[in-house]
Amino acid sequence: MIRIFGILTGLLFTVAVLWSFIVDTGAAISEPAPETAEEKYHLYPKGPEGGFAHEGLFAKWDTAQLQRGYQVYKEVCSACHSLRLVAFRNLGEIGYDEGQVKAEAASWQVPGVDPNTGEATMVEGSPTDYFPKPYANDIAARAANNNAIPPDLSLITKARHDGTNYVYDLLTGYREQPAELVEEFPEAKTAEGQYYNPFFHSLNISMAPPLTGTGQVTYGEGNPEPTIEQMAEDVTAFLAWTAEPTLVKRRQTGWAFLLFLVFATVLAYFSKKQVWARAKGGDVGEASVKED
Ligand code: HEC
Repeated sequence: MIRIFGILTGLLFTVAVLWSFIVDTGAAISEPAPETAEEKYHLYPKGPEGGFAHEGLFAKWDTAQLQRGYQVYKEVCSACHSLRLVAFRNLGEIGYDEGQVKAEAASWQVPGVDPNTGEATMVEGSPTDYFPKPYANDIAARAANNNAIPPDLSLITKARHDGTNYVYDLLTGYREQPAELVEEFPEAKTAEGQYYNPFFHSLNISMAPPLTGTGQVTYGEGNPEPTIEQMAEDVTAFLAWTAEPTLVKRRQTGWAFLLFLVFATVLAYFSKKQVWARAKGGDVGEASVKED
């Protein structure tokens, strides 16, 4: 009796689940959800032409580029974005020598204590300090940025899908909002204090285009011209480095490991031949067979 009751209950549940599945699928096919502006106009990032030096089969850090990227971060982005996981001493990894790291650190003001009064104040940075935050707290950050918080950039290329290409395209992707978009989706019109950028998830971002024109930063001699695209590529490479300084090493270790695997496979093949030679009546010398 209990068994029949159990089977019937099970059947009832199965029928209920199947029924709701069929009804919902039918509804989704007959009345699809209306397309949104984000679905229609959002663009997926492609990254710079030719890609980044640290990507692909023969990845390597282009230290000249990373230094240019650091310069763009320092002169442009650091006004709003922190880099809280990076210390000045880390700059030694992108080709600055000890003296330069000290000088760079000293060119930043970080929170410290006044040695005479003991009060909190800003002091020159030293290599062990971390990059300072531009705002005292989130409230101050929001107040200065149309109620949006500029995120910390240390891990941003990891925190977004296809992050390196995304950051590059976001920086170079600002444009006029298409008139037909506003016509079709009036509610998606770019609001006051926002800017249209089809790479941003909601199409309208509260960051004014940070890179505005060629020559915004001055690169040292022997470097390419600081066009918007060049500065965007450089700062993005720098942010890829802050997010994963060991990326290139990891790739190189991968190669060494692959080579080892090939070697081990060859070795395994020959030992297999050797071990099975007798059983298969192979080419092991006559003498050794007789000895058995
Ligand atoms: C004047 C302040 C300001 C400057 C300068 C600035 N940003 Fe921003 N940034 C913002 C704000 C505000 C947001 C948040 C926007 C939002 O959520 O709508 C943001 C967001 C971002 C995002 C995240 C987008 C996302 O997917 O959430 C990235 C990446 C970024 N900025 C990179 C940069 C880089 C690189 C620079 C320097 C070249 C820079 N920003 C300069 C204010 C600034």
